[in-house]
Amino acid sequence: MIDLTVNGAAARVDVDPATPLLYVLRDDLHLHAAKFGCGLGQCGACTVLVDDRPVFSCLMPVGAIGTRRVTTVEGLGTAARPGDVQRAFLHEQAAQCGYCIPGMMARAEGLLRKTTTPTEDEMRTAMAPSLCRCGTHMRILRAVRRAAVMRGGGVVDAAEPVT
Ligand code: FES
Ligand code: FES
Repeated sequence: MIDLTVNGAAARVDVDPATPLLYVLRDDLHLHAAKFGCGLGQCGACTVLVDDRPVFSCLMPVGAIGTRRVTTVEGLGTAARPGDVQRAFLHEQAAQCGYCIPGMMARAEGLLRKTTTPTEDEMRTAMAPSLCRCGTHMRILRAVRRAAVMRGGGVVDAAEPVT
């Protein structure tokens, strides 16, 4: 048995410790926000937070999590009460097909937990490991700038103002 803390709640799963965290989240805990894209750490669709740091959950063995806190997009808010990052993505209509968006939101949340006043370069570097096949990167970047403002900060030297 492996004990986890996911979105603030205790969870116990009976799986091989080598099982990727992504599979446990989706198949055992029925948290379907994080997606399988490449399975190789190359697309970011599976990104979740582990102790506030974005990780590729497709590459993270569940047995390596230990006592660290796992946060998925389900933990950032609900449909009825979306969190800042979710509201910012909605406001900017950042999704096309939406497949990459949970990973993008997790990555944005990780950045904003570190700093609410990143530079434009820091923001782009933080978001870079996640790819959007639909090409909505510019809207996604707008959403992250907006979320930073909603958190009481803002992207320093932002390439576009938040209006
Ligand atoms: S599915 Fe994990 S990085 Fe692509
Ligand atoms: S919105 Fe389709 S992959 Fe990003």
